[in-house]
Amino acid sequence: MKKTVVVVGYGDRGSVYADYAAKYPDELEITAVVDPDLYRLKLAKEKFGLKDDQLLTDFNELLKRGRIADGAIVATMDQLHYEQAKALLAQNYHLLLEKPVVNNAAELEELRDIAVGRDRIMMVGHVLRYTPFYGSIKQDILDGKLGQIMHIETSELVGVCHSSCSYIRGKWKSEEECGSGMLLAKCCHDIDLICWLNNVTKPTEVVSYGSRDFITPENAPEGSSERCYNGCPHLDTCRFSAKSLYVDNDLFPIYSYPNIKKPHAEITTEEKLTALKTNDPMGVCAYKTGSDLVDHQGVMMKFSNGSTAFHSMISAVPRPGRKIHIIGTEGEIEGFFETNRYTYRKFDFKTSLYTEEYVDVLEKIEKGVNHGGGDIGLIRDFVKRLRGDKPSIAATDISDSVNGHECVYAAEDSRKKGGVRKLDF
Ligand SMILES: NC(=O)c1ccc[n+]([C@@H]2O[C@H](COP(=O)([O-])OP(=O)(O)OC[C@H]3O[C@@H](n4cnc5c(N)ncnc54)[C@H](O)[C@@H]3O)[C@@H](O)[C@H]2O)c1
Repeated sequence: MKKTVVVVGYGDRGSVYADYAAKYPDELEITAVVDPDLYRLKLAKEKFGLKDDQLLTDFNELLKRGRIADGAIVATMDQLHYEQAKALLAQNYHLLLEKPVVNNAAELEELRDIAVGRDRIMMVGHVLRYTPFYGSIKQDILDGKLGQIMHIETSELVGVCHSSCSYIRGKWKSEEECGSGMLLAKCCHDIDLICWLNNVTKPTEVVSYGSRDFITPENAPEGSSERCYNGCPHLDTCRFSAKSLYVDNDLFPIYSYPNIKKPHAEITTEEKLTALKTNDPMGVCAYKTGSDLVDHQGVMMKFSNGSTAFHSMISAVPRPGRKIHIIGTEGEIEGFFETNRYTYRKFDFKTSLYTEEYVDVLEKIEKGVNHGGGDIGLIRDFVKRLRGDKPSIAATDISDSVNGHECVYAAEDSRKKGGVRKLDF
């Protein structure tokens, strides 16, 4: 049974989810796309063969049409989520809403209550739940292989390039401008994973430390200029050099050169250099971008059954990736997401040591999909839920999906003002 959606915000994320309709046209059809950027609408038109009256530059025009699809994919930037999600829920759309849902508990709980009250699906863009790596770990927990979870330790090690193009120079570089701090923008995935993996219980207390101490104007290399290509003597040596990241190695093409409206592959070196010297955010000295996000942070959490968790985030590390170590009463799991492999250990009575088993999930990842297979898993589950089919173990009610966000808000409050925060939501 084919389902229909409208796409609100056809940027990077919106286009990734919308692709499902191109890949599986028998399952999903797009009835309208809203985006004020005409270039993005042109891309959507070409991809899905949409008619002009299905392409809208103004969100209010969509609302005026009433409910024209089963669901809505909301993939605009963070600050727009609250108003748009609320308006769409009021028209009885089921929602796939990108994370972070919103940046504060009051609006989050309001949206949750509206969705529950109207019996609407409200799925959050927690794509990591849908990866074979975390999905397999969750299944092991459900199968009782760990016994009761005692402690979970996770790390989000953000590589130099990703830190640079998203959180130092990119569109999430400022909490003041974007509305989301580092923990919300980047690690709401990790905190959500902790809550979801341990969702036989609920988080009750949170404390956090963190600040921006290292990637600051005071720590800029001596004599550095405002832009890498404007005579900076460190152009060939600085780890944040735009030359190395965005010209020689051409990393993160989706985020570099945001002001050049054409496919990345068609951007010439000359255009890149001109942009980096003039108006491209990636060309600004990484130490002087005015970013107000933390460059390192730790979060400690306590759950109602006494179990605990610790999450750390460190920016601009050489080897990026996510680490996880879960210790239960009957066994433990340790792994590095990017390797698509983890180790399961349990106590060995015969030797009084332990046995080890390696779990490899690489084979389970569909070819050509992003986020370790998570993106396609999430949109597929949304379509399943629209059809009324049984979703995967990754899909939970919105009342469970909010736990991680609530912990993030509490952690940020603790980090900024000090002290432990008790959770009550
Ligand atoms: N789940 C994940 O892992 C993940 C990863 C990256 C980003 N995100 C989140 O996804 C969201 C979108 O991020 P992105 O990188 O795709 O951003 P983006 O800037 O590429 O896309 C946003 C799109 O929204 C459009 N837009 C602006 N105002 C609009 C309006 N009023 N109505 C409709 N469209 C409008 C923009 O023109 C743009 O095309 C953000 O909230 C971001 O934090 C989630």
